[in-house]
Amino acid sequence: MSTRRPFIGGNWKMNLHQQDAVDLALALADKVSGDAVQVAVFPALPYLLPVAAVLHEKGAPIAVGAQDVYTQPNGAYTGEVSLSMLQDCGVTCVLVGHSERRHVIGEADPLINEKVLASLEAGMDVILAIGEKIEQREAGKTDYINTGQLGYGLAGVTDEQMKRVTIAYEPVWAIGTGKTATPGDAQRAHMVIRQAIAFMFDQDIADGVRVQYGGSMKPGNAAELLAQPDIDGGLIGGASLKADDFAAIIDAAAVPA
Ligand code: 13P
Repeated sequence: MSTRRPFIGGNWKMNLHQQDAVDLALALADKVSGDAVQVAVFPALPYLLPVAAVLHEKGAPIAVGAQDVYTQPNGAYTGEVSLSMLQDCGVTCVLVGHSERRHVIGEADPLINEKVLASLEAGMDVILAIGEKIEQREAGKTDYINTGQLGYGLAGVTDEQMKRVTIAYEPVWAIGTGKTATPGDAQRAHMVIRQAIAFMFDQDIADGVRVQYGGSMKPGNAAELLAQPDIDGGLIGGASLKADDFAAIIDAAAVPA
């Protein structure tokens, strides 16, 4: 871990109905305190409002994020939700480019870039998720894929806006599979991501950017991953659905290296 403030996100994906989402938020509000670690949860769209309300009422230091955004202001875009609507629901942070949106829904880099730019323009914090598939890793293309997705995703982002960007490195083959990148492999990928950011922006910006690891992070492996010098937090799927597990990961992130 570095001097960068760790950032742990809980991506609830398309899980939990309203009461379960509110109950989880309530449980987290009891367990999460202090400001050593930045914490955000990403509930499903219909439950942003009740989850944000509960966390606000409890004064919990947990931000509410959206799992996806749309680029356009209010208007004729059937089925979409605008950034200002999300902000109206208490959302301060958005997830863009998650592998499930890239590979299941079919989002490509140009749209992901538009989403990054629109979100930053609207004043949101942005987590840009990137990561290689297993066949790309086996073909030795991990860095090529990651730096390509970074370059596309961050095109047009200003130095000032980069202060509100976090990168989530999520190797696709590790998501929801129980397979985790080894701490050494993850560290190596994170280091290359940081070098690429230095190349695209400058070293100061690269030194300040948080790069989260995502992919089967859980209480049993979090400490070792988070101890790596370029791993600045985690984006957690399955383990974020259990308050005790998610809180244990936050505690692991709070331990200074
Ligand atoms: P898992 O922690 O379930 O592997 O999911 C990771 C992820 O996709 C977080 O965005």
